[in-house]
Amino acid sequence: MISAIVYDSLTGSCQKYANLLSARLHVPAFSLKNAPVRSDGKIIYIGWLFAGKIVGFKKAAKKFNIAAVVQVGMAPVGPGSDEICREINSVPADTAVFCRQGAFNMGRLPLHFRLIMKLKNKDIVSKLQAKGQLNAQEQALYTMASTGVGQPADWNVDDIAAWAE
Ligand SMILES: Cc1cc2nc3c(=O)[nH]c(=O)nc-3n(C[C@H](O)[C@H](O)[C@H](O)COP(=O)(O)O)c2cc1C
Repeated sequence: MISAIVYDSLTGSCQKYANLLSARLHVPAFSLKNAPVRSDGKIIYIGWLFAGKIVGFKKAAKKFNIAAVVQVGMAPVGPGSDEICREINSVPADTAVFCRQGAFNMGRLPLHFRLIMKLKNKDIVSKLQAKGQLNAQEQALYTMASTGVGQPADWNVDDIAAWAE
């Protein structure tokens, strides 16, 4: 039984996914900073990707019983994404993994992150240009990287809600 959603969000995507799941599952959503520690029940943790790592996951794992972790990054989600997430973040075998595409907003980033992402986005744009035909998530990423702001291809939580129910 999931008793809460806990998230860490820099620009709002993880918060949006947390609110969507909170409404679907009728449980509260808390930011990691403000989440009360509860000994009862399990939580779903949602964190944004920073160089492949889910921000806040380690900290959250010390405080909460995490039944599922949701990674949110600007990159498209593919068939191998769950396994890569599990490996990079050392997600235990009994914790479910879900990968989602989130939004990107250069204007809402602190300066040091803006400098990193300016370079990274140039690289993303040239790789996607070389690819030619893009799927919906790749097209969303192209918009984010080339303009500095953009939404994911969709904000779907159906499979996560079905798993939790
Ligand atoms: C410094 C930095 C590093 C990032 N690294 C990754 C990454 O490794 N993979 C990825 O898919 N997205 C990466 N992103 C993009 C964010 O994870 C993405 O925009 C996410 O939707 C942000 O979630 P939030 O809106 O809840 O903060 C990075 C963003 C920043 C600012």
